[in-house]
Amino acid sequence: MIPTLAWTPEGVRFIDQTKLPLETEYVLATDYEQVADVIVTMVVRGAPAIGVSAAYGVALGANRSKAESAERFAPEFERICARLAGTRPTAVNLFWAIDRMKALFAKLRADGATMEQVREKFLAEAHAMYEEDIAACKTMGAFGGELLPEEGGVLTHCNAGALATCGYGTALGVIRAAVEQGKRIHVYADETRPFLQGARLTAWELMEDGIDTTVICDNMAASLMKAGKIKTVVVGADRIAANGDFANKIGTYNVAILAKEHGIPFYCAAPWSTIDTATPTGDAIPIEERSAREVTHHGGKQLTPHGVGICNPAFDVTPAKYVTAIITERGVLRAPYTESLKEMELAG
Ligand code: MRU
Repeated sequence: MIPTLAWTPEGVRFIDQTKLPLETEYVLATDYEQVADVIVTMVVRGAPAIGVSAAYGVALGANRSKAESAERFAPEFERICARLAGTRPTAVNLFWAIDRMKALFAKLRADGATMEQVREKFLAEAHAMYEEDIAACKTMGAFGGELLPEEGGVLTHCNAGALATCGYGTALGVIRAAVEQGKRIHVYADETRPFLQGARLTAWELMEDGIDTTVICDNMAASLMKAGKIKTVVVGADRIAANGDFANKIGTYNVAILAKEHGIPFYCAAPWSTIDTATPTGDAIPIEERSAREVTHHGGKQLTPHGVGICNPAFDVTPAKYVTAIITERGVLRAPYTESLKEMELAG
């Protein structure tokens, strides 16, 4: 399995996603500040992977602390959580994971836990999130794989694969499961400007698995759809609002409109930790604006004239009306999403 992130006795080891596919290098984060840095710099990225990384970051923070009890650790714990929560604003999995660590800490503090107990329970919780994430990807893969055609082209945008999770992937998990079910799928991977998650990461991990893949520039999807080469679209999500609108990598919205125009099913695959029923609609999802340099430069080389205006929102919001179904580990949701999400939330 692709080693996106792993706990080691020295700290958390990340495959460096800024270097793939040409170099396979690892970064070891030995304290929570370093975990925050690898999230900001996108050594690790993808909503579920960011969430679990933050949980390990909290565990590392407890390991490095000199406090003797949960009570004494409390102010430091708040600082650790705030630092990790301040890394990236859009993927709700980050806040979901930190909130889960906060709920655990509140209980440990109320029980008068020692730091030894805090360290042990924090690590166990982070490990549980890691394992749950892989299990969720496999389950949503099995549900979603059934929805893909027996054969033909499937378009995906960005990287919602093993590299964006603890393993297997969400959208790419659906594709992997379809291939495991014997379907003859050919993946079209949007290159995904400006960070090129599709060209670099999706292409790399699917090739590692021997899945047929063609990289296309982001502006080629319409013409391929018109030519009948794309039968289905499946993408991941960073945050799904209560009405089914969802944020994902910038450009997802374009693909959704194109799919609608060409009568092609458009699926969003995400674990339940990506669903944010506290956010009523996509308009309320915070969108991260990243450095202009990601647009102006490539491989250290400047592409644009000095001083030109640059806009670099990392995500866009796809309205629920374009979504054929949302695939989760709890099942496949259909419109109207306000009702189906509420029902599935209550069912647990
Ligand atoms: O900026 P990134 O690379 O973290 O954005 C990632 C995406 O948009 C993914 O599609 C999303 O997080 C789902 S990952 C399973």
